[in-house]
Amino acid sequence: MEKTLSIIKPDAVKKNVVGKILSRFEDAGLRIAGTKMLSLSAEQAGEFYAIHKERPFFKDLVAFMTSGPVVVSVLEGNDAVALNRKLMGATNPKEAAPGTIRADFAESIDANAVHGSDSAENAAIEIKFFFPELSKCGCSCSH
Ligand code: CMP
Repeated sequence: MEKTLSIIKPDAVKKNVVGKILSRFEDAGLRIAGTKMLSLSAEQAGEFYAIHKERPFFKDLVAFMTSGPVVVSVLEGNDAVALNRKLMGATNPKEAAPGTIRADFAESIDANAVHGSDSAENAAIEIKFFFPELSKCGCSCSH
C-alpha cells in the first residue's frame, strides 16, 4: 500500500469537474483516504512549490494556485504515486495521452487541472503539509 497527494487545481474546481476527477481515482482502484477543499494563501502555495522557486514560472504558478479553491486528497493503493501520475497524464495537456485527466480537463501547462506527488518520498512530505493529522509519525516516511 502506498499513499500519494492529489490537488485538483482552481481551473478544474471552476469547471465543476471535482466529482468526475475523484471518480477516476476510485475507478482505477485508488481509495480516497482524506479530502478537503481549501483556498491557498500565497505563502502556502510558495512553500508547497518551494522546489520550483528559481523557475521562471514560479510567480505565475503561485498566482494561479491562489486564484480559487483547490481540493486536496490523499489517495491510497498499490503503486499509488505511479498510478496517479498515469491517470493525470503529462504536465503539459497538449502532450497528455488521450483519456488522461489533463487531456480531458486541462487547458494549458499552467491551468493543468491536477497536481500529483512525483515520488513516495515527496508524497510523504506533501501529505504532511496538508494532512498533518494523517501522518502517524513525525518523520518524512510514507506512513
Ligand atoms: P504541477 O505538477 O502542479 O507542478 C508544478 C507546476 O508548475 C506544474 O504542475 C505546472 O502546472 C506548472 N508549470 C508551468 N510551467 C511549467 C514548466 N515549464 N515545466 C513544469 N511545470 C510548469
